Parts: sequence; structure tokens; C-alpha cells
Amino acid sequence: MTDHNEGFEVRRVASLELHDLRRRVLRSNNPDVSVADPRDEESTSLHFGGYLDGRLVVCASLYPSTSPTDARLKTYQLRYMATDFDAQGHGYGAQVLETAAAALRELGVEQVWANGRDTALGFYRATGWEVVEGSEHLSAETRLPHTVIFKSF
Ligand SMILES: CC(C)(COP(=O)(O)OP(=O)(O)OC[C@H]1O[C@@H](n2cnc3c(N)ncnc32)[C@H](O)[C@@H]1OP(=O)(O)O)[C@@H](O)C(=O)NCCC(=O)NCCS
Repeated sequence: MTDHNEGFEVRRVASLELHDLRRRVLRSNNPDVSVADPRDEESTSLHFGGYLDGRLVVCASLYPSTSPTDARLKTYQLRYMATDFDAQGHGYGAQVLETAAAALRELGVEQVWANGRDTALGFYRATGWEVVEGSEHLSAETRLPHTVIFKSF
């Protein structure tokens, strides 16, 4: 699957291709922390890269999961959503999420959820996500404030 828009394209990729971007943008480029999810290599996991003139500038990974709002819904979890520093604010993150949502819908997925960084909630609200009230927490991995968010299809 490939989406094109003025030098920007979204591709399904192997998770390893996303590790450097995950580490730099989401883990302060700390070489000592893991940027792998145990589910990364499972066949049902989906990894997307957004490429600007051939350079990886967006990463997003999705894993089968359980909905935080309704366990009956077929659900995926979004993790490791990041846009490289110099490429933020140009709509690339939103475009990657749109491509990911289209792929999820094709699989019959009804909801996607995430532990959203509070500093990124504006991005998620702008792209149609909702907040689970009362779900504010500190991430065990980063100790940063997060809130559970979801988007239903
Ligand atoms: C959050 C992040 C992924 C957004 O990606 P991006 O490519 O910069 O976002 P886009 O340019 O596609 O923005 C889409 C919309 O969200 C809005 N938006 C983006 N970041 C925002 C923020 N931090 N606060 C408020 N609104 C924001 C944009 O203004 C745009 O709105 P519009 O469509 O009304 O113009 C990116 O800023 C990032 O990687 N941040 C650091 C890591 C991080 O926090 N990742 C999320 C972990 S849960």
C-alpha cells in the first residue's frame, strides 16, 4: 500500500526500519532504552513509514488489542507515533494515520486506541480521536503524562 502527496508517501514497512526514528523522537535518542514492542514481529502487526523525498520522517505501529471502551469491538492499539522534528506540523502525521485507518478498516477493525502523550492530545483531537475521561496516567516507560484515547471507525 502506498499513498502519494507532493513528495510524501506512506508505506507498510518492517518494524526495524522504524527503530531509529522511534528512539530519536520518542526516547530522547537514548541508546540504552528499548524501542521494540514484543508484538513487533507478529504477522498481525502493522508498521507504517511516512517518507518525504525518500527520507523516513513519520513512524506509526499498530497491534491487535482490546478496546478500552467496549471489549466487543475489533480493536488495534497505536504505538510509537512520531514525526521527525523538522517535519512536524506539515500534515504528515495525519496522513500516515489516514493510511493506517484505511488499512484497519479493510481488516474490519472497528476501533483504534492509544496511550496518548498529553503534549500530543491536540494532534489526536484534530485527527478525530476522543479522550477516555479519567484515564490520565504516567507512562511506566517514560514517566510522562498520558491519557487513553480512541477513535471509532
Ligand atoms: C504528535 C505528532 C506525531 C504530530 O505529528 P505531525 O506530523 O507534526 O502532525 P500534523 O502536521 O499531521 O498535524 C495534524 C493536525 O494536528 C495538529 N497538531 C499537531 N500537533 C499538535 C499539538 N502538539 N498540539 C495541538 N495540535 C497539534 C495540527 O495543527 C494539525 O491540525 P489541522 O489539521 O487543524 O491543521 C508529532 O508532533 C510528534 O512526533 N511529536 C513528538 C512525539 C509525540 O508526542 N508522539 C505522540 C506520542 S503518543
